[in-house]
Amino acid sequence: MQAELVLRQGRLLEGREVDLAIANGVFVAIGHNLSVEAPRELDLGGELVLPPFVESHIHLDSVFTAGQPRWNESGTLFEGIEIWRERKQSLTQADVEERAYQALKILAQQGVLFVRSHADVSEANLSALKGLLAVRERVKNWLTLQVVAFPQDGLYSSPEQESRLQLALDLGADVIGGIPHYELTREDGVRSVQQMCQWAERYDRRLDLHCDEIDDPQSRFLEVVVAEAIRRDLGDRVTASHTTAFGSYDNAYALKLLGFIQRSQVNFVVNPLINITLQGRTDTYPKRRGLTRVKELWQAGANISLGHDCICDPWYSLGTGQMLNVAHMAVHVAQMTGRQEVEACLKMVTEQGATTLGVRDAYGIEVGKPANLVVLPVADAWSAVRLQPLPRYVFSRGQLVAQTPPPFTEWFCEE
Ligand code: FE2
Repeated sequence: MQAELVLRQGRLLEGREVDLAIANGVFVAIGHNLSVEAPRELDLGGELVLPPFVESHIHLDSVFTAGQPRWNESGTLFEGIEIWRERKQSLTQADVEERAYQALKILAQQGVLFVRSHADVSEANLSALKGLLAVRERVKNWLTLQVVAFPQDGLYSSPEQESRLQLALDLGADVIGGIPHYELTREDGVRSVQQMCQWAERYDRRLDLHCDEIDDPQSRFLEVVVAEAIRRDLGDRVTASHTTAFGSYDNAYALKLLGFIQRSQVNFVVNPLINITLQGRTDTYPKRRGLTRVKELWQAGANISLGHDCICDPWYSLGTGQMLNVAHMAVHVAQMTGRQEVEACLKMVTEQGATTLGVRDAYGIEVGKPANLVVLPVADAWSAVRLQPLPRYVFSRGQLVAQTPPPFTEWFCEE
């Protein structure tokens, strides 16, 4: 057999060492000691081969705007929304496009090749959306970007919002967003979920709603999302992001809801870096962790993936783009420190993210699939999460996107 590139001795997640042959951007053979000829070969020396990382929830329109026009001193979600409202008055398409492009390069060099970004569509000029659609086009040869039309200020906060969201879909937004817990009333929140599910059917788009990102145990829009997903048979086309209030619900109610969630097949996205800092701000002690019930959802078989949510913006002024850092924080905050639990958190930034985005058909280390992969200088999932190394190689459709040699320390002291 002839190939264009062979990667020798890569270690798969289950521990097996294999060679990977690539031609025309897809895996053409995977197996032990492949007898395949190719003009290029790389010896991976038993290092870990994973499908690329998936960032399933980020706001690329606000990335790198921390401190503009002022810093979020209270550290709350709502001060963040106020600061963003001021910053977005000066937003231009070029401004969004440039910051988002830089962020995607930083993500890709860290092995992220699939990204779902929300775009704020609550302003009349739709600069955020247009900037992200332009960037989606610019990166399409090496990264898959999904853009969510996200009405940050609420679908019913002003009369124009509904038509702006529909225009965003007409312009090419991939996914419908929402924020029911931030609508003016509980009734508006329920109505917004119903409307978005109707659009999901009419426009044939996936849904990804910011849902119950608040510590209020009475914020119960997740049950509305789940109910609509069941009634309309939308299933895994629906994603509930954040759902932090689920961590504050009474156990009896939470258990009942968990059963409905299993029926619905709704995906969950958790953002542990930001929600451990944003939530619990009104608590004294005991202080809540501000995360949804990650471990219980995982044990119930729900699809959960992880995101940064923000990198250097009014809501979260830190963040690196390193998905293993996100998984590492999930391990801590969700107390998923068991051997299998740590591996589960790694899957939340790889294959389960691909499930959330609905790209599993083209994702994975399998013959016939696009040759997207990362090589990490470690031997297993545990070490990947513990050490959070940068990928030695990042390949997109058989093309090398980025290469980072592991750091080397020289030692000078003698005994
Ligand atoms: Fe978000």
